[in-house]
Amino acid sequence: MKLTIIGTGYVGLVTGTCFAEAGHHVTCVDKDADKVKLLQAGGMPIYEPGLDELVAKNVAAGRLRFTNSTQDGVDSGDVIFIAVPTPPQPDGSVDLSFIEGVSREIAGAMTSYKIVVDKSTVPVKTGEKVAETIKRYNKTKVEFDVVSNPEFLREGFAVEDFMKPDRVVIGVSSPRPAAAMKEIYAPYNAPIIVTDINSAELIKHAANSFLALKISYINAVSVLCDLSGANVQEVAHGMGMDPRIGRRFLDASLGFGGSCFPKDLSAFIQISERLGYHFNLLKEVQRINADQMDRFVKTINDTMWVLKGKTLGVLGLAFKQNTDDVRSSPAIELCQRLRKEGAALRVHDPKAMEKARPLLPDAVYVNDMDEVADGCDALIIATEWPQFKTLDLERLRKTLTHPIVFDGRNLFDAAKMQELGFLYKSIGRGKA
Ligand code: UGA
Repeated sequence: MKLTIIGTGYVGLVTGTCFAEAGHHVTCVDKDADKVKLLQAGGMPIYEPGLDELVAKNVAAGRLRFTNSTQDGVDSGDVIFIAVPTPPQPDGSVDLSFIEGVSREIAGAMTSYKIVVDKSTVPVKTGEKVAETIKRYNKTKVEFDVVSNPEFLREGFAVEDFMKPDRVVIGVSSPRPAAAMKEIYAPYNAPIIVTDINSAELIKHAANSFLALKISYINAVSVLCDLSGANVQEVAHGMGMDPRIGRRFLDASLGFGGSCFPKDLSAFIQISERLGYHFNLLKEVQRINADQMDRFVKTINDTMWVLKGKTLGVLGLAFKQNTDDVRSSPAIELCQRLRKEGAALRVHDPKAMEKARPLLPDAVYVNDMDEVADGCDALIIATEWPQFKTLDLERLRKTLTHPIVFDGRNLFDAAKMQELGFLYKSIGRGKA
């Protein structure tokens, strides 16, 4: 099918590329002329495993191209996907001006029937507004349908998630666009759920908020584990074996971050409020998340006593493994707090150092993870990159001025770390 994706951020670029990989003909539109030039020249604006090869392959096959003309995009596609940012506003609600702007542009460019699909994460009832806007601004008065088709991609695993989805959600206000949408997703062999538009929009916010709740739940349990001398990993294992609960997203941590969970939680609380429901449960999820960071900083402070004049090594800057994304990264927040208290920082991340530099301009950036703690007073693990588990611990113990490790991601075995002579403090595994 002929598809157009407007917006080539994480979601738009992965969506367009994976549609092309399934055999569709895809035009990706972006206002940012430099980004379009970079993509046309074979460059990659983001790090996402496997994406660069897929882009190159599909561009070469003539199934994927990039343009900065919305008119070109709308003319080239029968189905137009909106994948533009929906950034948070200071009050927690979502800035929908990009969605509104793109809806108007599509309306202005449309000269024949189109299916307009919202893929950006939006509050419930946005689809209704998109439809109203297109109707208002379309001079030629051609017919169209609006569809909500939320994405469930995890950064760092986005290509894999797109090619093998758990489910595809399609929200429609009439049966007309459903057949085309099912055809688009047929190659992925996933269960397809067709709902009304409001339900599709709610599924996305409700799913992300539930996952965030799950993390805050285990983080709250981790506090109890610390207080009682239990081990949160064993508790999570035992809970997770119940298939009604499941083990995934029960990894206690210094808190969740990223461009989705914090923003979507706030937006869900806001839209609930506007609709007349006080979603206090989700406010508690936010509070537990903020507390988790405070508690970790306190553990560092209590152990190190004074941070001024000390140097700390930090492993991990991205908000999670497998990505170069530092938006709302707990690791960055932690570093900024430690800097404020006067600690000097030596930092390493396998992919996120470039993006972290403007946020932590005076840290020393170290290319080799094994050298990050050289001459430091302690090492902190802030992101769950799996390769950190292969750290040369013997070398680490010798190069730290004192063998102290704060592990905000529970990557190491606590008993083994103690055996190796470390003072090792992690999350929810007793106050060692
Ligand atoms: C999340 C959802 O998982 C996706 O399904 C969704 O499509 C996406 O948001 C989105 O709305 O676009 P993502 O933000 O890429 O994906 O990252 P996650 O893997 O969900 O991790 C989010 C945060 O939670 C990270 O900071 C991670 O370190 C933390 N986390 C995750 C934990 O602290 N513990 C866990 O057990 C799992």
